[in-house]
Amino acid sequence: MSQRTCLSIILAAGEGTRMKSALPKVLHQIAGLPMVAHVVKAAEAAGAGDLALVIGHGAEEMRKAAQKFAPKAEAFVQEKRLGTAHAVLAARAAISKGYDDVLVMFGDTPLIDPDALTAARLKLAQGAAVVVIGFRTANPTGYGRLIEKGGKLVAIREEKDCSDEEKKITFCNGGLMAIAGGQALKLLDAVGNKNAKGEYYLTDIVEIAGAQGLDVVATEASFENALGINNRAELAQAEGIWQARRRQEAMLSGVTLIAPETVFFSHDTEIGADTIVEPNVWFGPGVKIAGGARIHAFSHIEGAIVAAHCDVGPFARLRPGADLKQKAKVGNFCEVKQAVIEEGAKVNHLTYIGDARVGAGANIGAGTITCNYDGYLKHFTDIGEGAFVGSNSSLVAPVTIGNGGYIASGSVITESVPDDALAFGRARQKTIPGKGKELRERFASAAAAKKR
Ligand code: UD1
Ligand code: MG
Repeated sequence: MSQRTCLSIILAAGEGTRMKSALPKVLHQIAGLPMVAHVVKAAEAAGAGDLALVIGHGAEEMRKAAQKFAPKAEAFVQEKRLGTAHAVLAARAAISKGYDDVLVMFGDTPLIDPDALTAARLKLAQGAAVVVIGFRTANPTGYGRLIEKGGKLVAIREEKDCSDEEKKITFCNGGLMAIAGGQALKLLDAVGNKNAKGEYYLTDIVEIAGAQGLDVVATEASFENALGINNRAELAQAEGIWQARRRQEAMLSGVTLIAPETVFFSHDTEIGADTIVEPNVWFGPGVKIAGGARIHAFSHIEGAIVAAHCDVGPFARLRPGADLKQKAKVGNFCEVKQAVIEEGAKVNHLTYIGDARVGAGANIGAGTITCNYDGYLKHFTDIGEGAFVGSNSSLVAPVTIGNGGYIASGSVITESVPDDALAFGRARQKTIPGKGKELRERFASAAAAKKR
């Protein structure tokens, strides 16, 4: 099949009013990726070939976003929303280039399975002119019904045009269609708009193809393939299904999720075998975790690289650019941003490390802060191998702590510290014998005087 050329057309001109959003519907995200980008990914996994994106509402925003998730896609604007066949024809220029297969997908149906697309393409390769991907549901309301006669698909009837008898059919149109490229324009151009909605229905090509003696086939896929998102409740439903699939995949690939339903992955999360993820962990985009790591409960991780056997959390926040080398530790209530934590270094408690490097085996005491921002620019803190930073220290960047440098607790370090030096950046302690007792007596009598 790989030698067959393919054009994938993704329809995304809908307004999505029920989302009640300033953002075009198909740019709302699932697992941190716009839903239309999920469709693009599925198409690519099925060997989608060239991509055509039919846009309308929010066209400029769509074009801009598409640069990121489908830089090679060609955008076609459907000026008036006259139905799904009309939308496909907005990409006429692309279709007429001549492809073996034309796939039509909806941008608001993000859970489509590449296997369903591949199966449909296979039917085209076997000689079908139109392949419809259907699904069965106990509640078919709103979907086009697949009308079969003698085991053959003869028509798709939209809900509004169905007779009472047809409404009882539970085999429905999922919205995905594969069309033989050589027939596509001829079939689409024959579609009219004499129906309850006055729209040009893509689904009409089934009857048209049948009347021309062409082979029309229905394949069956699971319900998720047809789950269209119209409002935020459905968006959450799709997110739930996506997460459930991803958790299953992670566990089967050797990752332990103690409470899988509380762990949230991003579309691109990579996580190695023998990593243990405790409950309530969030992975934002751009996370790579090697094997054998432990991610403790309530950690929030995005844009971070975590090497093998690292220990993160509980309650850790790894922000973009956090780069933990082997066996590094980032403990509770620590935030790491744009910083390398070298092998075996420990940042265990209540610390902010930003725009920095923490050398191998260094120990960062509780409450250490790299003061990286002066209100205008970010500055770098370099902490050497085996350094020790005492608790509650502020490292005012730009600053360097040499290898083996030792910082006294409570220091404010504004000048670089050479290798193996000890630095105090705080007032020297003063101890006054008997003064504590004297103070206590003075305060007690003041309190007694007030009560009287
Ligand atoms: C469509 C199918 C129906 C199927 C259902 C599955 C048709 C006529 N009906 O109905 O059989 O069961 O999907 O979810 O195809 N769009 C445009 N321009 C238009 C019209 C639509 O770009 O002029 C896009 C929409 O943005 C959407 C997709 O096409 O992504 C489907 O349109 P929608 O109005 O949701 O069709 P349904 O009524 O759900
Ligand atoms: Mg729909």
